[in-house]
Amino acid sequence: MRFDVITLFPELFEPFQRVGVTRRAFESKAVDVRLWPLREHADDNYRRVDDRPFGGGPGMVMLVEPLLRCMDAIRAEQAARGVPRTPVILFSPAGKPLTQSRVEVLAQGPGAVLLCGRYEGIDQRFIDAFVDEEVSLGDYVLSGGELPALTLIDAVTRLQPGVLHDAASHQQDSFSDGLLDCPHYSRPEVLQWPEGLPVRDASAAVPEVLMSGHHARIATWRRQQQLAITWARRPELIAQARAEGRLSKQDEQ
Ligand code: ADE
Repeated sequence: MRFDVITLFPELFEPFQRVGVTRRAFESKAVDVRLWPLREHADDNYRRVDDRPFGGGPGMVMLVEPLLRCMDAIRAEQAARGVPRTPVILFSPAGKPLTQSRVEVLAQGPGAVLLCGRYEGIDQRFIDAFVDEEVSLGDYVLSGGELPALTLIDAVTRLQPGVLHDAASHQQDSFSDGLLDCPHYSRPEVLQWPEGLPVRDASAAVPEVLMSGHHARIATWRRQQQLAITWARRPELIAQARAEGRLSKQDEQ
């Protein structure tokens, strides 16, 4: 799978290729990320890639022509390698919110061209001509599309076969079954809280059921925790799971 990223700030992507799960994915070639610094496609001495909006108003608009040259270079490279054209995704708060089910679909595909716009905008003629999908991270405004692009690459990368050490771990993620995840505990079984450090909840022991070795009881406890947490924090997800027939009779009790 391959991502071609059009960006004004290629430096922001470097740490991702050096650490963690994403580094492993890049090294194994499971995910190939190619950066396309847009300024290299400017045509004047100032390397100008944006300008003031027609009709007035604040901010700057990304110019069509550097974007066109960059897109042309990406398509030419795809043709030279004999790979199919990948869809173009633009990050924008006006896009459709990104969901785990969309991430799962993208994770099965050939990748995408990720266009990192600056918030004020991109000349609409480029969007109309090239953009297949607009994606938002949520109802807040970032200064550009680079963090959303990194987010999408991370979410898709960790689903690639062999990237996570434990293949079952993403089947337990929040959202993988439409509910939020349950709490997790590890050693020590009984915690000695340090003296004098104020804490909100000084429960020392791990919930007993997790120490019981009784797999069915543990599974039931985890499911109940998932339902309770989802109900408290994101009740609309419960309604959605119910509407999609993903709640069992036992869940409903
Ligand atoms: N660019 C600026 N804000 C954004 C958001 N919330 N989601 C995606 N891209 C953005």
